Amino acid sequence: MMKKTEAEQGKGYRPAAGWTAVAEGARIIEFPRVHDVRGNLSFIENARHFPFAIARVYWVYDVPGGEVRGGHAYRSLQEVMIALSGSLDVAVDSGDGAEQVFHLNRSYRGLYVPQLHWRQMRHFSTNAVALVVASLPYDEDDYIYNYDDFMRTIHAKDHDRA
Ligand code: TYD
Repeated sequence: MMKKTEAEQGKGYRPAAGWTAVAEGARIIEFPRVHDVRGNLSFIENARHFPFAIARVYWVYDVPGGEVRGGHAYRSLQEVMIALSGSLDVAVDSGDGAEQVFHLNRSYRGLYVPQLHWRQMRHFSTNAVALVVASLPYDEDDYIYNYDDFMRTIHAKDHDRA
């Protein structure tokens, strides 16, 4: 695997004040909104609105009714998911077995998901476009695809901490 640059690792990045505390768990964050009779506008600037340096953006679209995407966790990657159009549900599990479901239906809100959280995207509406802003470039080795492996990783971490 190629060595990551410092920028890719987010080194030297200073999140806006207040982010350290909230980086503990999944939560909704709100972006600035510029209301305008010609149409509204929202935006994201790295350190002002984000807990991490943005390394990658991708989007999921044309999801057939009833399909589910993204049943997995990441070892290191953090992300913010935004329903740019339409709506979807994101189920997040921090490893305590209790699933938290966030309904995303506003383009000026995002769901922050920390690393080591199992997450699944479901109930996409017709024409939904889900934007995902990620802290790392694509790296298959960062994925945990198996739920039992995810639980083992979480509990090994708890054990290390004790
Ligand atoms: P994946 O993240 O596995 O999506 P899901 O969990 O919903 O199935 O991505 C699906 C495929 O897309 C995977 O084989 C690799 C590719 N992919 C990229 O090449 N770059 C990316 O940034 C992402 C997110 C996926």
